[in-house]
Amino acid sequence: MTASPSIPPVDFRSKLVNGILAIRPIATFAKNRARAMMIQRAEKLGVPWRQNVETLQRRDWRGELAAVENPALSYPSYYLTSFHAYDEGNLGWEPALEVESAAYSVHSTLFGEPNIEGDALLRESYHQILKFNIDLSPQKILDIGCSVGMSTEALKKTFPEAELTGVDLSPYFLAVAKYRTAAQGENFTWCHAPGEDTQLPAQSFDLVSCSLIFHELPQTAAIALFQEAKRLLKPGGYFAMMDMNPQAEVYKKMPPYILTLLKSTEPYLDQYFSLDVATELQWAGFEAPFIQENTPRHRTVIAKVQA
Ligand SMILES: C[S@@+](CC[C@H](N)C(=O)[O-])C[C@H]1O[C@@H](n2cnc3c(N)ncnc32)[C@H](O)[C@@H]1O
Repeated sequence: MTASPSIPPVDFRSKLVNGILAIRPIATFAKNRARAMMIQRAEKLGVPWRQNVETLQRRDWRGELAAVENPALSYPSYYLTSFHAYDEGNLGWEPALEVESAAYSVHSTLFGEPNIEGDALLRESYHQILKFNIDLSPQKILDIGCSVGMSTEALKKTFPEAELTGVDLSPYFLAVAKYRTAAQGENFTWCHAPGEDTQLPAQSFDLVSCSLIFHELPQTAAIALFQEAKRLLKPGGYFAMMDMNPQAEVYKKMPPYILTLLKSTEPYLDQYFSLDVATELQWAGFEAPFIQENTPRHRTVIAKVQA
């Protein structure tokens, strides 16, 4: 089957915010403000953001980079843009060395008062739903958009018997993933490739998991990724994703100023929010997905390969 295009309905508020962000000095101000707020929140929580980064900066990363990088890879154009207030997007050392501290900061308020455990609880809430809703014990798991390996490690904790592979488009993130997880005695496989065209063998995984990647994808890439996940899964295997929940009240009621800050760091948010995930998954060859919110801001989507 070919995929059906989802048409993004753009409401008045989004149009207004997009118009404001088209003014470059305002966009730059918004990005810098968002970043400063994240660092401040992390350090208040006891995450020594700047100190962590300084320590990591002192390492020689050439070994890890050479081990994970695919020099022949050509990056999709949508990836070569600014994300999360970094001009270089995901393709640089600064984002790679900061992303773990950033995750603790961004997820700290998910379950009430700011708490450093927010990130771990977010992953746990996803995996609890996942474990409860699949009828197999996955032996081979693929973590697409694995970044520095935090989601890969969390999957391993949930499914200790499984063999883990992480895919990401950023060699810098993968280099840090290799270093971080090796330091914990793990030996995961890392693959530098687009999630929508991994070049990994067909029908070789029981579970394909995508944690917090879909909000970074334009709809064409998201739909291609569903198709790639279907190709990679064994019969009876599962696709699972956890990401922002477009239906969450918090996004519907978000004050325009905060929405402006958020959108200044997430270029494909409108496309993600208007993607009809359930329909596209079925077009890609999955059964109708099970969808459940796992935090006030996130949802888990689980779909089984059609029999
Ligand atoms: C917000 S991070 C999520 C990281 C991680 N899964 C987690 O839960 O902490 C999104 C990751 O997706 C990666 N990514 C974005 N587009 C991708 C694509 N088309 N293929 C593979 N990785 C991609 C980015 O490089 C980034 O590392």
